[in-house]
Amino acid sequence: MSDLAALLQQALDEVAASDTLAALAEVRVRWLGKKGRFTEQLKALGALPASDRPAAGARINEAKQQFVETIDAAQASLERAAIEVELSAGRIDVSLPGRRPGEGTVHPVTRARLRIESIFTQSGFEVATGPEIEDEFHNFEALNIPADHPARAMHDTFYFPDGRLLRTHTSPVQIRELRKGRLPLAMIMPGRVYRCDYDMTHTPMFHQVEGLVVDENVSFAHLKATLQGFLQAFFERDLQMRLRPSYFPFTEPSAEVDMSCVFCDGQGCRVCKHTGWLEVAGCGMVHPNVFAAAGLDAERWTGYAFGMGIERLAMLRYGVNDLRLFFDSDLRFLRQFGAA
Ligand code: DAH
Repeated sequence: MSDLAALLQQALDEVAASDTLAALAEVRVRWLGKKGRFTEQLKALGALPASDRPAAGARINEAKQQFVETIDAAQASLERAAIEVELSAGRIDVSLPGRRPGEGTVHPVTRARLRIESIFTQSGFEVATGPEIEDEFHNFEALNIPADHPARAMHDTFYFPDGRLLRTHTSPVQIRELRKGRLPLAMIMPGRVYRCDYDMTHTPMFHQVEGLVVDENVSFAHLKATLQGFLQAFFERDLQMRLRPSYFPFTEPSAEVDMSCVFCDGQGCRVCKHTGWLEVAGCGMVHPNVFAAAGLDAERWTGYAFGMGIERLAMLRYGVNDLRLFFDSDLRFLRQFGAA
């Protein structure tokens, strides 16, 4: 009978040493199969005297029972582990949340444009657009840009063979709107513009927003207040603004608009080249020749106009240091901008 205890121990050791379901199945056959070792023990009972058989049989069955319980438990645990492996391999994990479709974001230039439009429309401006393919009349002549003006040189402007061109600024929309003759008017005109130029601060396509207000008795003070109010609203902070005398063919007088640097509050830093000022727009009073080209009475009507680069405003507001990032379609950059 000490034999039986040793036998059982050996069987249990084999179970413990089996780390796959296949190995376990072999152990089961070796001990419980037709020629299994427990089976053989039971067969050997016949050789015992009849009076000894019941007790011996009971002990063998007890040992066999213990083995069966142990090997069943081991098999169940290996099967559970196999299921765990399947699940973690990810094939059928029904508990995983579904994969959401990627949510798009508004392009930073669009976001800046929407912001500009919302600020101006809140103070009564309308939004107008014009064609990106223009003619020399609207893009240049009507804007009092004479034929020998540098802006008309081939290296700046993309021309089509038929003499038309990709507009180099949004100012031609001024002419198109003025020629409709619906005065007074207050409008902004955003859109794409094109120049043959490419480096850190220039791309062949970029965006401008034009502003135009025409009425009787419009003054430079109106222009100044509008721009100051816009910049405060766009950058959401108190900032200084200054107007520097400048020249544009379509305005007289003309000025360049500077605002105190949003990065150093006018103290001077790398972005403002240590001047404390950032140039953000051009502006002026509508030139009489522009009114005349639009068929309007320059004695009666007065107006102011301004133009600014949308990418430039977006760079300053969102802290972007390279213009080209806007056009590289790099999702790591674009994803940083949420909804408008
Ligand atoms: N059209 C000018 C440019 O592209 C910007 C500009 C300056 C527009 C002064 C204006 C203005 O309306 O008054 O550089």
